[in-house]
Formats: sequence, structure tokens, C-alpha cells
Amino acid sequence: MPSEAERLVAGAADGEDQAVEAALRPKDLDEFVGQERVREQLDLVLKAARKRNGTADHVLLSGAPGLGKTTLSMIIAAEMGAPIRITSGPAIQHAGDLAAILSSLAEGEVLFLDEIHRMSRPAEEMLYMAMEDFRVDVIVGKGPGATAIPLELPPFTLVGATTRAGLLPPPLRDRFGFTGHMEFYAPAELERVIHRSARLLDVEIEADGAAEIAGRSRGTPRIANRLLRRVRDYAQVKADGLITRGIAEQALKVYEVDGRGLDRLDRAVLRALLKLFGGGPVGLSTLAVAVGEERETVEEVAEPFLVREGLLARTPRGRVATPAAWSHLGLVPPQQGGTPGQPGLFGS
Ligand SMILES: Nc1ncnc2c1ncn2[C@@H]1O[C@H](COP(=O)(O)OP(=O)(O)OP(=O)(O)O)[C@@H](O)[C@H]1O
Ligand SMILES: [Mg+2]
Repeated sequence: MPSEAERLVAGAADGEDQAVEAALRPKDLDEFVGQERVREQLDLVLKAARKRNGTADHVLLSGAPGLGKTTLSMIIAAEMGAPIRITSGPAIQHAGDLAAILSSLAEGEVLFLDEIHRMSRPAEEMLYMAMEDFRVDVIVGKGPGATAIPLELPPFTLVGATTRAGLLPPPLRDRFGFTGHMEFYAPAELERVIHRSARLLDVEIEADGAAEIAGRSRGTPRIANRLLRRVRDYAQVKADGLITRGIAEQALKVYEVDGRGLDRLDRAVLRALLKLFGGGPVGLSTLAVAVGEERETVEEVAEPFLVREGLLARTPRGRVATPAAWSHLGLVPPQQGGTPGQPGLFGS
């Protein structure tokens, strides 16, 4: 079973991504491609803070994996000329862990808290006070004899990142002065990301080649960069290193990423839905058995992108293919009013 991280079109980072990403990360707001609204708003927040010679308001960044939340947090620190401390929700098990970090922050420092929705409850409550009053109560001792010692903190900027903004408790969400919702990128923006990365990786690429990769990158810069590296490998081994549209097409055929960015699993799910169940509706469990995968894999790994692309719909009666799904796989939908599902059944 392919785990999300093993897929070439996964939004989440794999080991190789982590190694190369540092080199490919834009270092300031001007270099950061796309996200015009977030960028403009953030630019104002940071400029105003600099003008006041103060610390920027706390910033929450929400959006799907690979859209640039970590990158933006580093840019915030760089633009403020401030050091950055990086930690994550799951790393903070106890309120004491958070107190230790907070009390060691320098004035104006940026604290980047990744996956902030996964922080423990007690730590979260400590964070409320730290964000609002720059103060924490450190609890000393246990049981009835425990006492709270208030500790002043230097002003700092918290940058929280989450892929699940909906999971944040409102009191936490409300304490951020600015929330940036990161959107999926348009193909033209991804082309710019690809050209920029190609320059940094010293790879020659034609405009058509970049467009071909961009169209298969699921609106996600991390995927665009990953596909670029795989196409580069192919271009170096099978050709002279130059990435043309033809080379990109051949390479991504080898890696089983199709023209819309669907991979083998995505297509298997669609094909089963169309060919075995006439386009649905069919239950998730049945669909999962048909493709030989776990329910969760189909639901969490394959479906979100299929739904986003308008290829599959989740309905109360089960999964249903859209007309776009039929045309994407080059199949003909069953006649309206005919025997449901018959024409597509076992066909082609
Ligand atoms: N706007 C952008 N312009 C250029 N490159 C970008 C942009 N956004 C992201 N990238 C590239 O994509 C990679 C992944 O971005 P980043 O690590 O910031 O994503 P993320 O939102 O933090 O993902 P996760 O949710 O997995 O932590 C970066 O290394 C960077 O090279
Ligand atoms: Mg990140």
C-alpha cells in the first residue's frame, strides 16, 4: 500500500525533499511566488511593525501541505531581521516544554510553531497567555502545594502553521493578529516556481517543459519541485539534459503521473468506479476492495485530489464519478435512462 509520503505526487515532504528544500526556499517576500493576497497583507503587517520599531503581530498560516507555510515563516523572520526558533505542536507534550522555549526567546524573536493544531491542551492554554500578555505562569511543585510563579516574556512573534485551521480552538485562533490562508497555486505560478528552481539546480528547461510539469503538480510548489527533479534525472540519463515538453511527458509517463497530475492509485480508483460500478454511486468500502487498498488509503490519499479536481463526488449514497472523470479516462458514460452502469461494465 503506498503511504502518502511515498507517492511522487504527495503534498507532504519526504526525506529527499527536506534535503533539497532548504536550497530552493525563497528567502524574501519578493522571491516568494504567488499567494498575492497573503503576500500583500503580510507585507503591510511587517512594514508597519518595522516602522513602529516593534514586534510583528502573531501570524497564523493555514493551508495544505507543500504550499509554503514553513517558507513564509522563515521569510517573516528574515524580513524582520529577527532570529527564528522552530518547533512543532507534537514536540510540545507538556506545558513545561513550551515554558522552556518561551522563556528562552530573545526580544523580537520569531517562534515558528508548526502543526499548531497538534499541541497538547495544557500547552495551548499557556500559549494563550503568552501570546496576549507576554507572560507565563510556571507551576512549581505538585498537588495542593503547587504554586504558580509568573514569568515575564520579551515580546515575540508567534507564527503558527496548520493544515487544519478548522481544528484550532477559537480562543487560539482569535489571538492571532493576522491569518493567511494559503491557496493552491495557478499553473502559471507553478511555472515560475519551476523556472526559479531549475535555475538554482542548474537545469536547462524550455518554457513548454515547465508548463508540462506545472500542469501535473496539483497546484503545489513542493510537488512541482519534486517532479522537476525526477524529470531532470530522466533528461540527463535519456537525453542531453535539456527539459523540453516531450522529455517531461516521457519522464512523467515513466513515473506514472498523468496529464492532470493523477498517479497510479488515483487512476485505479477512478477506473474501478467507472468500469466496475458504472460511475457509482458505490460505497467507499466496496470501492476500496475493488482497487485492493485500505479504506483509509482511498479516502485520505486518493479522494481529496479527485474531489478537488471535480472528478469524483462524495454523496450520501456513495462515491459518484462526474462527467469529467469519464472523459479523463477516455471512456463513454452509460446512456441516461438506460440500464444503470451497463455500457461501462467490463467495457474497454
Ligand atoms: N511561493 C513559493 N515560491 C517558490 N517556492 C515555493 C513557494 N512555496 C513553497 N515553495 C517551495 O515548496 C517547498 C515546500 O514549501 P514549505 O515547506 O514551505 O511548505 P509547507 O506549507 O510548510 O508544507 P508542510 O505543510 O508539509 O509543512 C519549499 O521548499 C519551497 O522550495
Ligand atoms: Mg512546513
